Amino acid sequence: MADATTATLKINDSEYELPVLRPTEGPDVLDIRKLYGQADVFTYDPGFTSTASCDSTITFIDGDKGELWYRGYPIEQLAAKSHYLEVCYLLLYGNLPNAEQMEDFERRVTRHTMVHEQMHNFFRGFRRDAHPMATMVAVVGAMSAFYHDSTDINDPWQREVASIRLIAKVPTIAAMAYKYSIGQPFVYPQNELDYASNFLHMCFSVPAEKYVVDPALARAMDRIFTLHADHEQNASTSTVRLAGSSGANPFACIAAGIACLWGPAHGGANQAALEMLREIGTVDRIPEYIAKAKDKSDPFKLMGFGHRVYKNFDPRAKVMKESADEVLDLLGIHNNPTLQVAKELEKIALEDEYFVEKKLYPNVDFYSGIILEAMGFPTSMFTPIFALSRTVGWIAQWKEMIADPQAKIGRPRQLYVGEGKRDYIDVAAR
Ligand code: CMC
Repeated sequence: MADATTATLKINDSEYELPVLRPTEGPDVLDIRKLYGQADVFTYDPGFTSTASCDSTITFIDGDKGELWYRGYPIEQLAAKSHYLEVCYLLLYGNLPNAEQMEDFERRVTRHTMVHEQMHNFFRGFRRDAHPMATMVAVVGAMSAFYHDSTDINDPWQREVASIRLIAKVPTIAAMAYKYSIGQPFVYPQNELDYASNFLHMCFSVPAEKYVVDPALARAMDRIFTLHADHEQNASTSTVRLAGSSGANPFACIAAGIACLWGPAHGGANQAALEMLREIGTVDRIPEYIAKAKDKSDPFKLMGFGHRVYKNFDPRAKVMKESADEVLDLLGIHNNPTLQVAKELEKIALEDEYFVEKKLYPNVDFYSGIILEAMGFPTSMFTPIFALSRTVGWIAQWKEMIADPQAKIGRPRQLYVGEGKRDYIDVAAR
């Protein structure tokens, strides 16, 4: 690096000055935007391991220190002192709301919780055994067919309405996907309930019985939403930004994010982690699974372990582990075999040379499934709950991109390694 503000790149006999951008926190960033025009070369970084795709003011992660901040506030403080809708406000508008702003925001979200009645027909077209994520991708995408008055991305007011609609309606859609999968009637939102209680009510109440939401469980649910609310430029958020960069409407972009989140290396890991813990079953079988995870000829990975960015610990996993203990205690579930396997697996893996050397630690998905299962959710609902929590993060990032005058359509380059130019051969001659 030549000095603090430029770096010099030497290619054969030519030298190029690259500006060095200074973030508020984190490593410096080499600005290569003009490199192709000046030097006729591309850079190569599959998986974006060293590439910043945008600038952002929303979330910061220090993977070495195990820190996560939303708009500068550490996740531990928000999980302990704030609540999800306040966190939504913070992510969307940049600062914590005062009492009046909070009340107004809550009122706006609450007024949008119902979905268009005709959307019920959409659900009825799906097989009952469809995965709720499959239903969610389709129904959230279909929102653009119902809410035409908030699809013009160039109108700030329409962007705002679409944001509120998504935050308000995605939990309703997730709960409907669940109810449909178990053959129970849809439960309409109850606007006197807080966000988390309303979701629990829509999932677990039935018309035949009165259902009273346990405030302690609602608090645990709310904390799960908060811990998942945003995570800077992960795969699904980058998908939302990429989809949005072409000018696609916000409902289509969020549907794309949900599709990406579904994969087991991303949001699908919470379902996969609990299924793995159940499959291991007893503590004595852990070494067998540790050996499988280390075996390069075996595709098995310890689900809920490892992270692209966290190389010390995942601060969300720490809060989630404490929450798991609290919830099981609250529900009077003692000696839960899955939790026992989880705790022992964590202990063994954290001492194992392979995991230590590769800096593999439990991530947010390792303990969340235990809490969700104890609350009564089937494993298929774990990823939809992640999706509804992350919706606000996706929207905040999408809005930031749309408002950024420097934003361009996302269009990566490639390193072509296919055939050279060749002439077409007639079929008889092949
Ligand atoms: N079990 C065993 N080995 C692992 C694991 C694991 N869970 N994770 C990574 N490794 C190994 C990997 O095989 C590689 O070994 P080598 O260097 O010998 O080839 C090394 O560790 C580096 O891993 P990587 O796959 O190159 O790392 P990545 O940054 O590309 O992937 C990850 C990160 C999260 C996709 C990966 O750790 C993984 O698949 N974990 C299991 C799935 C999971 O829990 N995902 C949830 C992530 S947190 C929530 C979210 O983002 O949605």
